[in-house]
Amino acid sequence: MSNQFILAPSILAADFSILGKQIKAAEKAGAPYLHIDVCDGVFVPSISFGMPVIETIRPVSQMFFDVHLMITEPEKYEEEFARIGADGITFHLEATKDPNVVIDMIHKAGKRAGISIKPGTDVEEVFPYLKSVELILVMSVEPGFGGQKFMEGSLEKIKKLREYIDENHLNVIIEVDGGIDRKIAKKVLQAGANAIVSGSAIFKKGSIRRNILKFYKTAQILEDKK
Ligand code: DX5
Ligand code: ZN
Repeated sequence: MSNQFILAPSILAADFSILGKQIKAAEKAGAPYLHIDVCDGVFVPSISFGMPVIETIRPVSQMFFDVHLMITEPEKYEEEFARIGADGITFHLEATKDPNVVIDMIHKAGKRAGISIKPGTDVEEVFPYLKSVELILVMSVEPGFGGQKFMEGSLEKIKKLREYIDENHLNVIIEVDGGIDRKIAKKVLQAGANAIVSGSAIFKKGSIRRNILKFYKTAQILEDKK
């Protein structure tokens, strides 16, 4: 099940004046996840949006709300994110003293737990937590801003994760976030990821529907080649 391709459009790149409309377009085109980036201006050098926005868009869509917390001390806020409509909560390994506490809290709230690592963090550091989470999010740009260039070094991390996850028979989604267009998606999927976050390539130009369908076409071509 964790090998099925998942596309998670990131609303950080959306037009906030018509956010509800754009979310519906992404849902209608078949994207199962909605990636929601929360930046606090401390863990990352930018501030995005918070609870009121998430609460407002919750009734607009049935998509899986994939909340990516780029915040310090996620343990202070995760219950509130769960209450207002997150389905999955991903926090950063670098943002907390005890990741196991955060993972337990997310599970107690009945949500899917994800753990994320920044580009500078060794992938091995996350291995001890993989048996306890449902998703690992590999950042392929420095977190905080959309529209950056994909860091090729992420591919090696994805390969190592895929090996570790398969060898240990774990059921963990490998999601990759930052700088991913259709061409890079191919490399990321070939390296072993099964979920892709994309903001700019979906919301910044052209039709949301067509952009999403292109990602699915790429995933399908790779699947057919297997
Ligand atoms: C970066 C965010 C990403 C970002 C992806 O901090 O976590 O989700 O918005 O956007 P693009 O696809 O534009 O890199
Ligand atoms: Zn993100």
